[in-house]
Amino acid sequence: ISRSPLFEGVPPEGYEIAEQAFRTISLRPRQTVFEAGDPGHALYLIRSGKVKISHRNLDGREKVLAYLNPGEIFGEMSLVDDEPRSATATAVEDTVIHALYLEEYWGLVRRFPQVAHNLARIIARRLREMNHEVEVLTFEEARGKVAYALLKLFRHRYGEETAHGRSMPLTHRELADLAGTSRETATRVLGQFQELGLVAFGSRLIEVRDPAGLENVLYDL
Ligand code: CMP
Repeated sequence: ISRSPLFEGVPPEGYEIAEQAFRTISLRPRQTVFEAGDPGHALYLIRSGKVKISHRNLDGREKVLAYLNPGEIFGEMSLVDDEPRSATATAVEDTVIHALYLEEYWGLVRRFPQVAHNLARIIARRLREMNHEVEVLTFEEARGKVAYALLKLFRHRYGEETAHGRSMPLTHRELADLAGTSRETATRVLGQFQELGLVAFGSRLIEVRDPAGLENVLYDL
């Protein structure tokens, strides 16, 4: 709790009060917390593990919006605007989350108004990130889109750190869905990136070796 941006600036005594307001839930890999369209009256703070936020379109293709790590929160949108869940949340690995229901949230905000401002800041940051993503998806060619998708995973610390960079369990299909390209295009671009030494890959594993090089691709340097 003390490491979460939601509690930035809250005095340590607030952590204990928050601890009591939370309900703890343990999740197995691939277990769903909620599905897009569900009603929802709680936000969740990740204690350990990893949560995938995603969307499925009508033909079953998945768009991953984010991978979230310990300290990060999700489910705050329905808590705030009382609309159905805007995306599906699924545990990627063994994960422990804390649920904070609306009533307890208000209890916390009354005692520590900073929590509400922190929540607004988290939402603003995500909107900023999404605006950048819309720009990339609108204006970038395939190389930029794939570079952006890889960088996003890298920044979210998806996968494992290796001697050469970061190794991420990811099929070409999944990368294509993240980047908004076809599978064939994602594979072709990955091949180019591998030749440039930016990545190395197998069939279900992509290793980012040179994030600065990927940034150069993205910004055409
Ligand atoms: P909510 O709509 O309640 O349920 C789905 C949650 O996914 C949403 O709240 C956010 O917490 C989270 N979410 C939605 N879009 C994004 C995004 N682009 N980046 C990170 N998290 C998101």
